[in-house]
Amino acid sequence: MPHNILVTGGCGYIGSHTVLQLLLGGFRATVVDNLDNSSEIAIQRVKELAGEHGPNLDFHKMDLRDRAALEELFASTKFDAVIHFAGLKAVGESVQKPLLYYDNNLNGTITLLEVMASHGCKKLVFSSSATVYGWPKEVPCTEEFPLCATNPYGRTKLFIEDICRDIYRSDSEWKIILLRYFNPVGAHPSGYIGEDPRGIPNNLMPYVQQVAVGRRPTLTVFGNDYATVDGTGVRDYIHVIDLSDGHIAALNKLDESGIGCEVYNLGTGKGTSVLEMVTAFEKASGKEIPLVMAARRPGDAEIVYASTEKAERELNWKAKYGIEEMCRDQWNWASQNPYGYGSPETSD
Ligand code: NAD
Ligand code: UD1
Repeated sequence: MPHNILVTGGCGYIGSHTVLQLLLGGFRATVVDNLDNSSEIAIQRVKELAGEHGPNLDFHKMDLRDRAALEELFASTKFDAVIHFAGLKAVGESVQKPLLYYDNNLNGTITLLEVMASHGCKKLVFSSSATVYGWPKEVPCTEEFPLCATNPYGRTKLFIEDICRDIYRSDSEWKIILLRYFNPVGAHPSGYIGEDPRGIPNNLMPYVQQVAVGRRPTLTVFGNDYATVDGTGVRDYIHVIDLSDGHIAALNKLDESGIGCEVYNLGTGKGTSVLEMVTAFEKASGKEIPLVMAARRPGDAEIVYASTEKAERELNWKAKYGIEEMCRDQWNWASQNPYGYGSPETSD
């Protein structure tokens, strides 16, 4: 029997791509998602892209905090492991509505972990973030760097990492991998699934994409006085397909003995500035992205990129794609789906 994986938040950006890679890799996947920040169309498209593997995908519209519904699902289906993407992720919104973030991200996770434990499912891959490195004193960031949080969203990631370390200390049957993502961008090369944020995008590439398709007039560059190659912020952009494959590597690792609660960076190890990214996107799309220079965004770090050594060594995983492929695939998705899974009427 193929491994059966529960994927929380599987209709979202990273979740939908990972579910596709799981299906193509021969896994069965059950998605639970409340569709708070996603569309069920993503799941239909994943099923189509998966071809003959499509029937190995089930979807349940469900909030993770609905313990009764989650209990019922675990009672009816045996899961080999859980990949836990479900959570709210907008930094600015988390500052405005901290309780919403603590309730959704923490209570959702605690309910999930309790139900998993009561059904003897103790293998977990969790979506953490490079945000836990805050403003790193040096780069590349290794997994041993000191951790901090600068906003409620980041604090939920730190808390959940600590919760995972604590439950492993209390019960050594747990096997947990915490994946710290750097900056996921791009889309499936088919252009059929991709990122479709609600409202005004907070992150760089979704914003660039909306300028390119004419939904927004200009990109605001937050700060051009950093000590970087051209003064703009440097990040480690990673193709979402590479990131998705990192989850399969993590699942395989969970099958080894002696895994406790381990943490891995998922990045490329390369830093790219905002202007370098915009130039690469202009080249891939043939579109000009008009820029407006503005002040630094509060809370932004100057340079963040990953040390990828631990993931390469222990997960046997390494990112394959560079920024040209990321921009090519982002544009392929954007040009075919300028309004994401929606329409001009349903978008801001
Ligand atoms: P996303 O918003 O596209 O996907 C998250 C999904 O979780 C959505 O489909 C949403 O509807 C669902 N969800 C949220 N709360 C839920 C709940 N209580 N019950 C059920 N479903 C719920 O986000 P994404 O970019 O795919 O990110 C996935 C995970 O990775 C998140 O935990 C995020 O914090 C983390 N992460 C993302 C990035 C990034 O840049 N995209 C970077 C680092 C970490
Ligand atoms: C942001 C979040 C981080 C989260 C990550 C992934 C903040 C402070 N940090 O990180 O917690 O884990 O997204 O969701 O929000 N930029 C512009 N103009 C824009 C948007 C971004 O110039 O319109 C710049 C930023 O200043 C930064 C770079 O582009 O230098 C990347 O920004 P973004 O995509 O938001 O990612 P992070 O800042 O790394």
